[in-house]
Amino acid sequence: MGNGKFAIVTGASTGIGFELAHIAAKEGYDLIVVADEPLINNAAEDLKAHGTNVISIEADLATIEGNDKLLEAAQGRPIDILLANAGRGLGKAFIDQDVADWRRVIDTNVLGTTYLLQKVAQQMVARNAGKILITGSIAGLMPGSYQAVYNATKAYLDSFSYALREELRDTDITVTVLMPGPTETEFFKRADMMDTKVGVSEKEDPAATARHGWDALQSGAAHVVSGFKNKLQAAISHVTPDSVLAKMHTGMAEPGSAAKVPESKRVD
Ligand SMILES: NC(=O)c1ccc[n+]([C@@H]2O[C@H](COP(=O)([O-])OP(=O)(O)OC[C@H]3O[C@@H](n4cnc5c(N)ncnc54)[C@H](OP(=O)(O)O)[C@@H]3O)[C@@H](O)[C@H]2O)c1
Repeated sequence: MGNGKFAIVTGASTGIGFELAHIAAKEGYDLIVVADEPLINNAAEDLKAHGTNVISIEADLATIEGNDKLLEAAQGRPIDILLANAGRGLGKAFIDQDVADWRRVIDTNVLGTTYLLQKVAQQMVARNAGKILITGSIAGLMPGSYQAVYNATKAYLDSFSYALREELRDTDITVTVLMPGPTETEFFKRADMMDTKVGVSEKEDPAATARHGWDALQSGAAHVVSGFKNKLQAAISHVTPDSVLAKMHTGMAEPGSAAKVPESKRVD
C-alpha cells in the first residue's frame, strides 16, 4: 500500500458497495475491499484498473473475528474513509423465517457494523480526521412487514448514524447515512424476495445510489435519501402512522405480491 489516501469499503463485491469502491478508486484512494465470498477478489481486480492499490479480504462481517481480520489487514494505516455498507435482507413472514437466517441479518447489519464503526471511529478520533458513510435505508423509516427484522436493523443504523455524528460534533470527523430505496442489486435475490412486488419492480441504479452517497459523504451531510421517488417516500413516512406504513409495506413485500405487477413492468 502506498502513502496516499486510504478507504475501506465493506460489502464491495456487488451492488452499491461495488459502485462506491469504484468511485473511491477513481478518486485515487487505496482500498481494502471486503465481502464474505471469493467474488470480492474479482471485484478487487476490476478496481485495480483505476491504478490504485487494492487489497481484497474475505471475511464474515457478521462476526467480531471477521471484523478483526479486516482491521488487521489495515495494519494501523490511518483510515481516511470508512464506507460501512455490507448488509443483507430477508423476506417472508417472521414466523416462517429460520433463526439462523434472521440472526445473520442482525449480526451483519447491527453487530458487525457497530463493532467496526466503534473501532474505526476510535482511530479517527485519535487523529481528529476521517469520514464515515453508513449504508442505512429508507426501510428504516417504516415497519417492514414481511421483512420485519431487516427494516428494524436499518432503523437501528439510521438512528445510530445521527447519534454518532452528534457525539463527534466537536471533532473534524463526519458521519453520513446513505438511505437508498429499492435498488437494482443482488439484494432481493439473496433475501429470497423475487416473489414480491418490490423484488420484481423497477429500481434505482446502484451506480447513481453510490454517487449520491459519495457526494453526501464528501459534503459532510448528515444523510441523503437516494432518488426522487425515495425522497417522496421518506417524506410520506414522516407524516404517516406506523400502522399505515406497515400495511403499505405488506403491499410491496408480501410473498406472492409479485403477481400484482403486470408482465410489461416486471424487471426480473
Ligand atoms: N438494494 C436495495 O434495494 C437496498 C436498499 C436500501 C439499502 N440497501 C443496503 O445497501 C447495502 C448494500 O446492499 P446491495 O443492495 O448492494 O446488495 P448486494 O448486492 O447483495 O451487496 C451486499 C454486499 O454485502 C456483502 N455482505 C453481506 N453480508 C456479509 C457478511 N456477513 N460479511 C461480509 N460481507 C457481507 C455481500 O458480499 P457476500 O455476498 O460475499 O456476503 C455484498 O458484497 C446493504 O447494507 C443493504 O441493506 C440496499
